[in-house]
Amino acid sequence: EKIVLAYSGGLDTSVILKWLKETYDAEIIAFTADIGQKDELDGLEAKALATGASKVYIDDLRDEFASDFIFPMFQAGAFYEGQYLLGTSIARPLIAKRMVDIARAEGATIIAHGATGKGNDQVRFELGVAALAPDIKVIAPWREEQFREEFPGRAEMIAYAEKHNIPVQASAAKPYSTDRNLLHISFESGMLEDPWFDPSSDENKDMFVLSVAPEDAPDQSEYVELSFEAGNCTAINGESLTPLQVMDKLNDLGGKHGIGRVDMVENRFVGMKSRGVYETPGGTILFSAHRKMESLTMDREVMNLRDSLIAKYSQLVYNGFWFAPERLALQALVLESQKNVTGTVRLKLYKGNIIGAGVQSPVSLYNPEIATMEADPTQAYDQGDATGFIRLNALRLKVGTKYSGK
Ligand code: ARG
Ligand code: SIN
Repeated sequence: EKIVLAYSGGLDTSVILKWLKETYDAEIIAFTADIGQKDELDGLEAKALATGASKVYIDDLRDEFASDFIFPMFQAGAFYEGQYLLGTSIARPLIAKRMVDIARAEGATIIAHGATGKGNDQVRFELGVAALAPDIKVIAPWREEQFREEFPGRAEMIAYAEKHNIPVQASAAKPYSTDRNLLHISFESGMLEDPWFDPSSDENKDMFVLSVAPEDAPDQSEYVELSFEAGNCTAINGESLTPLQVMDKLNDLGGKHGIGRVDMVENRFVGMKSRGVYETPGGTILFSAHRKMESLTMDREVMNLRDSLIAKYSQLVYNGFWFAPERLALQALVLESQKNVTGTVRLKLYKGNIIGAGVQSPVSLYNPEIATMEADPTQAYDQGDATGFIRLNALRLKVGTKYSGK
């Protein structure tokens, strides 16, 4: 039997690797997607092999993640519950997809992951696998009673790791859980479970990884220009870049200026509320610039329609329905809505703020001659027409007032 395990090298997936191997007498193929977690990948292959994996895949999926997942989601303008830019949510379907590919290549019929039974990630992995490979079976050790009895807490996991000579990093001792990729880093659990706990305070701010605190950001603001073609950022400060390069560049800029921190209590799909802290420096700049680009180039009713679907689209991503037909249908609408979203946005970054500093487009829908308070040379708009326009719109309000007792 072969099991493909989504492996991060942390304490949980290390213990799970060994436990699966022993419990199911299986060959374990460890898989790690490189989606931009940087130094977390150091020494991972050796570690997986030392822990008992028969084979290790560490696949660089950063380009695909940026081009086929992050960018389409940003075209949609997605954000969950008003704040969360979905950094973890959007990575899960890609990991599921690659796991299925590896399972096929290796002739494995089982996939395993280290997500807990209380979170969103289990749902995202497994709905992804279900949509792509309905025949593949999933093992989630955290949902197995036997596993939970053996490991009621971290102490038991650390003891197990020591007994089996599994190298446990110092980072495994961090009192919270993190998930890092090209789009963000998330922080959850541990001391963060108290929603009154303040990670931004001077004594706690060491937690942050991708950004400085706004208070510590440079006193000098910095301009940046993002150019868009059909809703995708294709150049920064006039230099053409791939989606991956865009993310890297914006993360550096945003991190330097203290941009993109979010601290929220969110609703997990499985029903509970959960406190999450996020750093999304580049994504926050991209989100803001994209919206400004649309303001100049997008038709009003197309924008209204797309905007009315943002909450739905975001829920689909958050809840793990990336490969569902309704997400694909929405994406087709989003793609159509972005055809004219082309031009350049200029922003000023300053101590956690993104300040609009200009927007231009070769296909702008903004016509100062029509909007002007001065005489309109185009004669496209006759002020007298507004009289009838208001009169017709007022009709039902006048009729209604008669009965409303006002
Ligand atoms: N709450 C966020 C989400 O559901 C982040 C989850 C982080 N996952 C993790 N395994 N640490 O998307
Ligand atoms: C987990 O339970 O694995 C992390 C949190 C989440 O998935 O929401």
